[in-house]
Amino acid sequence: MRIAVLSETDRAETRVAATPETVKKYKSLGADVVVQAGAGLQAGLSDADFEAAGATVAGSAADAAKDADIVLKVRRPAESELTGLKPGALLIAIMDPYGQEAALKALAEAKVAAFSMELMPRITRAQVMDVLSSQANLAGYRAVVDAAAEYGRAIPMMMTAAGTVPAARIFVMGAGVAGLQAIATARRLGGIVTATDVRPAAKEQVESLGAKFVAVEDEEFRQAETAGGYAKEMSAEYRAKQAELVASHIAKQDIVVTTALIPGRPAPRLLTREMVESMKPGSVIVDLAVERGGNCEVSKPGEVVEHNGVKIIGHLNVPGRLAATASNLYAKNLYAFVETLIDKEAKTVAVKWDDELVKATCLTRDGVIVHTAFQPTA
Ligand code: NAI
Repeated sequence: MRIAVLSETDRAETRVAATPETVKKYKSLGADVVVQAGAGLQAGLSDADFEAAGATVAGSAADAAKDADIVLKVRRPAESELTGLKPGALLIAIMDPYGQEAALKALAEAKVAAFSMELMPRITRAQVMDVLSSQANLAGYRAVVDAAAEYGRAIPMMMTAAGTVPAARIFVMGAGVAGLQAIATARRLGGIVTATDVRPAAKEQVESLGAKFVAVEDEEFRQAETAGGYAKEMSAEYRAKQAELVASHIAKQDIVVTTALIPGRPAPRLLTREMVESMKPGSVIVDLAVERGGNCEVSKPGEVVEHNGVKIIGHLNVPGRLAATASNLYAKNLYAFVETLIDKEAKTVAVKWDDELVKATCLTRDGVIVHTAFQPTA
């Protein structure tokens, strides 16, 4: 049984899909591990670190993937990366499958069994494999750190001989995994923190972190949570009422962090140009949803833009800004899943195709797209 760890080809990607720690664990499952040279460099992991853990280092992606039964990546491989893969190999990554029909077709045609880690069901057994949570948590932390770095003032209140420095007002929009960590981080830095969300369950979580909850709490709000615990899209009326409440609040904020997402949909637009213009010069906005269309009308993917003196941060791949920690947690998520795909006695790949984790994450198999949510439309 051979497991390959490939380098990332996307220029924005700094993370790696395995660490020396997980290599050792794969070895103890009886696997040979091949790591593409340089795969871990941006996450602070050298080829020698991987070799010391028992991996072999291969000079190219083709050499690493050749004959591999399991191929691990952070991002979905480009079509050009699929040619060297063995038919039937398991390819496991964050596949970003929504609206990617051509890419899914290419995965099917490569005859690999492609698994999308972000489709892992949020059930107790799979918590250890939840890449959305492991990465979003770090993004939420980093968003506040990035905001603090761009903000030309101090965040905590300070009483000094030269005068009192007021605490920064920090508003977090979207209180899921990333938002809750942003709240916690903003509180640790001494900010005055408020937060909003459309899921009623978020209110208690926000308050338990010592922040104040700000939202229109009408009947629609009380109903607004799907069985999976995710947000659903709100009606135009609700959005208008919420926008009005939020607009007056935003004008008083120093830092706004937006994290709102709805699975499989473009990010909800929460911060309009007018709202940005209502903020004081020197304020900072971090749009964590920028890769999914953005929560803020003014943010630009991959850029820090200034609009009327307000800085709007739109970094891509925010978990990748903490490449070592993010890789460490992602690699552990992957290991926990891979372990379920292996027969430990026989030391071979043995996928239980009817397991709910497999069914939820498997996109392609034997040349076809098997996932019910991604069937070709034509
Ligand atoms: P997400 O990344 O899909 O969205 C982020 C947040 O944005 C969510 O809280 C969502 O309600 C909010 N949002 C969406 N539209 C909004 C709007 N118009 N205005 C304001 N906020 C808006 O969500 P994430 O972080 O993945 O978490 C979703 C839920 O799943 C949470 O309740 C979380 O606690 C829960 N969860 C459960 C796990 C489990 O294993 N049981 C693991 C991780 C999260």
